[in-house]
Amino acid sequence: MKGETSWVSHCLSNIHREIEFDILSEVTDEGSKEDAAVSLDLILPDELLERILSYLPIASIFRAGSVCKRWHEIVSSRRFIWNLSQVQLQKPWYFMFTSSDEPVGFAFDPIFRKWYGIELPYIETSNWFIASSCGLVCFMDNDSRSQLYSCNPITKECKRLLEPPGLKFPDYSALAISVNRVSHNYSISVVKSKQVPGDFFQWDLSVHIYDSETMMWATPLTEVLTGWRGGDESVICDGVLYFLIYSTGGCASENRHGLITYNLCNRSSHGLLMRSFTPAPCSLTCGRLMNIKEKLIMVGGIGKQDRSDIIKGIGIWALEGKGWQEIARMPHKFFQGFGEFDDVFASSGTGDLIYIQSYGSPYLLVFYVNQKHWRWAQKCPVTKRFPLQLFTGFCFEPRLEIVP
Ligand SMILES: *[C@@H]1O[C@H](CO)[C@@H](O)[C@H](O)[C@H]1NC(C)=O
Ligand SMILES: *[C@@H]1O[C@H](CO)[C@@H](O)[C@H](O)[C@H]1NC(C)=O
Ligand SMILES: *[C@@H]1O[C@H](CO)[C@@H](O)[C@H](O)[C@H]1NC(C)=O
Ligand SMILES: *[C@@H]1O[C@H](CO)[C@@H](O)[C@H](O)[C@H]1NC(C)=O
Repeated sequence: MKGETSWVSHCLSNIHREIEFDILSEVTDEGSKEDAAVSLDLILPDELLERILSYLPIASIFRAGSVCKRWHEIVSSRRFIWNLSQVQLQKPWYFMFTSSDEPVGFAFDPIFRKWYGIELPYIETSNWFIASSCGLVCFMDNDSRSQLYSCNPITKECKRLLEPPGLKFPDYSALAISVNRVSHNYSISVVKSKQVPGDFFQWDLSVHIYDSETMMWATPLTEVLTGWRGGDESVICDGVLYFLIYSTGGCASENRHGLITYNLCNRSSHGLLMRSFTPAPCSLTCGRLMNIKEKLIMVGGIGKQDRSDIIKGIGIWALEGKGWQEIARMPHKFFQGFGEFDDVFASSGTGDLIYIQSYGSPYLLVFYVNQKHWRWAQKCPVTKRFPLQLFTGFCFEPRLEIVP
């Protein structure tokens, strides 16, 4: 099965063209597949075949498209692609950047446990801000923070969005996206944070929301925080925007991180942002927020009491009401398996999977939330070439029907 990965990688980088234009290419293929496929072909009416194919994982759907002309026509049809959205069996993939300067890397498919070479549209380097939801990935540049795209990395469809309003050159920005699974319209949020000039303890914070229906930004909230600043972690779950804030050391607080909750439906909380404050569950070094089936989950490094830059483990918590409940802790053998583990790491999750990787190595650990099961991903097909080479990544759902 050696050829598989390269076939898929070839096809994935050409999916859009495949679907739209490449109807003729597999006519030559027909003669060689006259075994099992043919008898199925004869028995099954189109609708049934369509239904069966729609239950396949994305990568198999592309392979099925090369079986014969009839199958190809089915998997290329708009109706089939639309119907796929009704069958939600796809598992989220993890894209790992293998270079800090270029947007190159591989995507891990947890169903086949394989890595595919796919190209990401538009993004220029791995330090851009990235958020994803239901097949769409949003990228924002990390210099001017004015270039913003929403893309489907599978079909390569991409759209440039208007620049978010508000403060220019914020010190911190947090990006999140939320796609409505029924209507496919989406919201993007940017939380900007900038120090008030000459005052170390005061930070301007503003929340900006983009609506794909109106294609406009709104700024429902601006506030000044004292002793706390925003950061670059945020996520939207079930209509609520969550973001982490970080102590600037003014008040002698033992919690260096906290969570702010902002309801996007009724958007009315002037002067009240800190009322929604939920302290981090322990001394965290690196909190990462994610949407797991519309529930807020946080992954974080558990700091040593005396040396907060060294972590002794990684925990996973779910927000239950106003408090955190620990749902898992990375077993020590996996933690050790990363080799040197920095106090910062990449982690991203959706659906029922959470991916964790250290910046220092191309190893990827998967946590299956429902089964509470940890498992290494297949080794990424890259090797570390120099000691300071960094790896990072994000997860997204592979979907054909979703359009930016
Ligand atoms: C696809 O969707 C259409 C419209 O909802 C439906 O009538 C049809 O049965 C679906 N086909 C399959 C194969 O699921
Ligand atoms: C943006 O760039 C800064 C400075 O290089 C870096 O510290 C930060 O982590 C970057 N943000 C993201 C999201 O990569
Ligand atoms: C998305 O579309 C649905 C129905 O079409 C609508 O009720 C909803 O308000 C829209 N949401 C956003 C965020 O635009
Ligand atoms: C916003 O709506 C939620 C329920 O959807 C409610 O719990 C909350 O109190 C509301 N907030 C404000 C400020 O009205």
